[in-house]
Amino acid sequence: MIKIGIIVGSTRPGRKAETVAEWVRDLAVKRGDAEFELVDLRDFPLPHLDETLPAAFGQYEHPHTRAWSERIASLDGFVFVTPEYNSSTTGVLKNAIDFLYAEWADKAAGFVSYGVDGGARAAEHLRQMLGRVKVADVSAQVALSLYTDFEGFTDFKPAAHREEAVTTMLDQIVSWGTALRPLRAAA
Ligand SMILES: Cc1cc2nc3c(=O)[nH]c(=O)nc-3n(C[C@H](O)[C@H](O)[C@H](O)COP(=O)(O)O)c2cc1C
Repeated sequence: MIKIGIIVGSTRPGRKAETVAEWVRDLAVKRGDAEFELVDLRDFPLPHLDETLPAAFGQYEHPHTRAWSERIASLDGFVFVTPEYNSSTTGVLKNAIDFLYAEWADKAAGFVSYGVDGGARAAEHLRQMLGRVKVADVSAQVALSLYTDFEGFTDFKPAAHREEAVTTMLDQIVSWGTALRPLRAAA
């Protein structure tokens, strides 16, 4: 079975990302067609990019980069859970993506975004940047509204139809993540 990492894309105190990621994980583990694990950026406290060589060289100086590299290399696909910050994803997630290169390649990814417009701009920016590191982004997306999926803009109460959207997105990640296996094996 392939292994999918659910990346918690905010490290802010009081973040919503953790609750949203746990909701995705709890739905995902019922499937049985892949393994699903949370990947919390708080557990990988990367500084602003401090590697001398570009990540494409794969020669990392720092233990924090090697730890992050091992974690991402161990996965076959991703669900990025991202809020929208100033019409994009979070700085901490962009920085974490920039630290690596080959570890992302030939893996499938989907997005669970949230914001006043469903975090759509955050997910679109992520799709652009992940294309650069050869991630295959699936079309299905879960776009949660701060107005209707968070009571009082705070308590996460997703609309019932969101579960179906998660299922569709995970179906696509699992099928592409599995289909891309030969490319990962050859790399
Ligand atoms: C720095 C910052 C910028 C934000 N910019 C946007 C924005 O452009 N669009 C939007 O819909 N929400 C924006 N928000 C609201 C966030 O989507 C909302 O606070 C969300 O809960 C943040 O996710 P988190 O709690 O997991 O960190 C912004 C929040 C912060 C902290």
